Amino acid sequence: MKFEKEILCIGAGYVGGPTMAMIAHKCPRYRINVVDINPEKIAQWNSNRLPIYEPELDEIVSGVRGRNLFFNTDIGAGIRAADIIFVSVNTPTKTFGAGAGMAADLQYVEKTARQILEYSESSKIVVERSTLPVRTAQAMERILISDKPGVKFEVLSNPEFLSEGTAINDLENPDRVLIGSQQTKSGLKARDVLCQIYENWVPRGRIITSNIWSSELSKLVANAFLAQRISSINAISSLCEATDANVDEVARAVGLDSRIGPEFLNASIGFGGSCFKKDLLNLVYLFRNYGLDMEADYWEGVILINENQKDRFVMNMLRNMFNTLAGKKICVFGFAFKANTGDTRATPALTVAKKLMAEKAEVMITDPRALGNAKNDLQDIAGRYKLVDDPYEAARGCHAIAIMTEWKLYRTLDYKKIFKSMQKPAFIFDGRNIADHDKLFKIGFNVFPIGKAKMVHF
Ligand code: NAD
Ligand code: UGA
Repeated sequence: MKFEKEILCIGAGYVGGPTMAMIAHKCPRYRINVVDINPEKIAQWNSNRLPIYEPELDEIVSGVRGRNLFFNTDIGAGIRAADIIFVSVNTPTKTFGAGAGMAADLQYVEKTARQILEYSESSKIVVERSTLPVRTAQAMERILISDKPGVKFEVLSNPEFLSEGTAINDLENPDRVLIGSQQTKSGLKARDVLCQIYENWVPRGRIITSNIWSSELSKLVANAFLAQRISSINAISSLCEATDANVDEVARAVGLDSRIGPEFLNASIGFGGSCFKKDLLNLVYLFRNYGLDMEADYWEGVILINENQKDRFVMNMLRNMFNTLAGKKICVFGFAFKANTGDTRATPALTVAKKLMAEKAEVMITDPRALGNAKNDLQDIAGRYKLVDDPYEAARGCHAIAIMTEWKLYRTLDYKKIFKSMQKPAFIFDGRNIADHDKLFKIGFNVFPIGKAKMVHF
């Protein structure tokens, strides 16, 4: 069968895999190839055990894989065959040299651009799908200048806005698809080609276009605003704890103002995940680079509040557990950075577990999906910890439970049974405010929510 378009995605990660599976699912007339430098990951994408857990992803992938979606490691062949290339490689925070700990590490993106240049034998549209500092497209364009006759590249920015745990729904029903292009004739033509792909399932009114720099910057700003809301409510949670106000009641009252809205006002142990902190650091670095220090300080505050929230949580445990955790057993409920994912990148649970171990506590970690990643994250960490599948087993004999991930499971456990098996007095610190605190208190727990009065029996 001759396909109408040949699409390539470079980078088979949390973005590349689900995004391409959705395009393949919605557009059977396109052939989609996903490539990666990591052969193990590609083998997993070709197996019944995908490299990431995401609700509904297995069904979508198994419906299209081998039909019009293909995973492999032949990057050169993929580039040669493609009309459109999505670049979805990782852009972590730089760990070395100038800008270490702040700037985005662009080595993978640049390498990809050079590979595209090397292997291309015809003109292509290159789509930035990774999250990048504003003006990266300029560097891409400068690398992608070919001396091969008839080979030209048009670079577009098309940032991804999906959230893990709801990726399939986010891809199927996006709030918006953003496409940034150069405002030249060829730039606008390439933009229209990409629009047509999304028009297969996204209403035209939700596909918005802009200049390429606005598009690159909008992605960083969207993440910064979302993270800012979490830090804002988390900052308020400290004041609530000091004054007996209730952060959920405050968030409800504030969020009902239609100008503010109710989403992303859940006070928590702090945001985790691979992107919020990285993208905020990147934004702060950009501000400083342009000499905008006051603005940089403002956005840096969002990160500082997030770090403070985790410190506050552990200090609260320490103070309320009679100022010593040494030799105590603490059960950590949830290691994923949020519910419905196995992803543990930048998870607050790791920070909390490390701090507890630094206090010489023994940490029992349980999670329905993330223990595989937890094992890798903890392998070089000194301290006493165990990974336990069954939450009842994990909590047995513990002095305290710390809820780190908002898995539904942790609402519905038999806490009477758990209480009976624990050391007394038994403590529960709910870093997600998901448990039924009144019920836990009645069972006998000393309960410490976020941003609400503690409930203690002594
Ligand atoms: P990831 O680490 O899961 O996947 C990136 C993949 O790219 C890896 O498998 C890596 O092996 C591969 N890769 C790196 N260099 C390569 C090369 N030269 N050739 C081929 N493959 C290469 O990362 P991710 O979470 O999918 O994020 C990718 C980008 O998307 C980042 O910029 C991130 O900020 C952005 N983003 C992520 C999310 C998310 O939910 N994870 C959402 C929106 C945007
Ligand atoms: C986030 C954005 O929501 C996506 O739009 C974006 O595409 C993505 O980052 C990215 O660029 O990688 P994600 O990190 O997958 O998505 O998940 P979120 O739902 O945003 O949650 C991030 C963190 O904030 C989690 O740790 C979550 O538990 C926490 N959170 C979220 C809160 O503490 N309170 C809230 O009210 C909401």
